[in-house]
Amino acid sequence: FRCTVTPNTGGRTDAERDAVLADPGFGRHFTDHMFLAEWTPETGWADARVVPYGPLSLDPATAVLHYAQEIFEGLKAYRHADDSVWCFRPEDNAERMQRSAHRLALPELPTDWFTGSIEALVAADAAWVPSGEETSLYLRPFMFASEAFLGVRPSQHVTYSVIASPAGAYFPGGLKPVDIWLSEEYSRAGAGGTGAAKCGGNYASSLLPQQEATRNGCQQVAFLDSVEHRWVEELGGMNLYFVQADGSIVTPELSGSILEGITRSSIITLAADLGHDVVERRVSIDEWRDGVADGTITEVFACGTAAVVTPVGRLKWDGGEAVSADGDAGKVTHEIRSALVDIQYGRAEDRHGWMTRV
Ligand code: PLP
Ligand code: COI
Repeated sequence: FRCTVTPNTGGRTDAERDAVLADPGFGRHFTDHMFLAEWTPETGWADARVVPYGPLSLDPATAVLHYAQEIFEGLKAYRHADDSVWCFRPEDNAERMQRSAHRLALPELPTDWFTGSIEALVAADAAWVPSGEETSLYLRPFMFASEAFLGVRPSQHVTYSVIASPAGAYFPGGLKPVDIWLSEEYSRAGAGGTGAAKCGGNYASSLLPQQEATRNGCQQVAFLDSVEHRWVEELGGMNLYFVQADGSIVTPELSGSILEGITRSSIITLAADLGHDVVERRVSIDEWRDGVADGTITEVFACGTAAVVTPVGRLKWDGGEAVSADGDAGKVTHEIRSALVDIQYGRAEDRHGWMTRV
């Protein structure tokens, strides 16, 4: 993997950047550069380049605008106390993007191109990796059908890009428990569909139920399986965990229609390190509601790159609610969150070899 770099001579001043890094929020600000590469059947992946951040010019017939042939990833770069910058399990994101590409009939991006693109962009924008507590540089690799053609078939021109955005907490309340709305009418993904792929369409279909959640005072929406409307899958952008009274921890098993979260998978390992039994199995919506009410479930939390580990306060539905945290996160949620972020920020030994210096 090789790429060219065109520095942005018209980028933000140090003062402008510092103002952004002091209060980055989530997904609002972007760095001075972006990565681009192109694919055609003739050239394979080619033209890897870091260029000044700016708008893309697209023909109105560009296939992605019509048929949503698009996939993306999300990972973060963390600044450690000695100023070095590290990514968390980037090869796992590369591999998931390859699985997503397969499902969306897009060309697979080789792992060294994925990690090379991340390293090249982070090198160009190193000054944009914030150093404040629990801040990071959120990296968004994405790939889309860039051929101008209206026939429905896999695009013969594909663009891969990475943009970067300084990030604080995804939820404005930080570690305050979030409330979840149960989507009873809509599912996120169906059997044989694209639920396990990280493609834009899954998020488009989550927005109407997400609006319903917002109307009901909730920050996220929980989806059930599309066949029986009974088995808990995941949230719009996060996986779920349930802590049981006996200290064991349960997460919904991979059903083929939920996203294989890298945070989810890391927590399976970390919770076991901490001495918890970790079980991947089906969890019914009744088990969630009744378990919280009768105390068999003591804590519920959501996890993902953007959300890290976020406690769930209440599950709400039309006509009821189940309260799992009032005011503060539970003990196990705190413990798992700390175990994860301590590795990510270099405060704990990286015993599983998850961190890559960039
Ligand atoms: N589920 C969905 C639908 C997501 O969008 C995400 C976020 O990436 C996750 C789960 C968590 O995945 P990860 O931990 O790899 O960020
Ligand atoms: C991520 O966690 O990286 C996601 O893509 C989820 C989205 C809610 C920002």
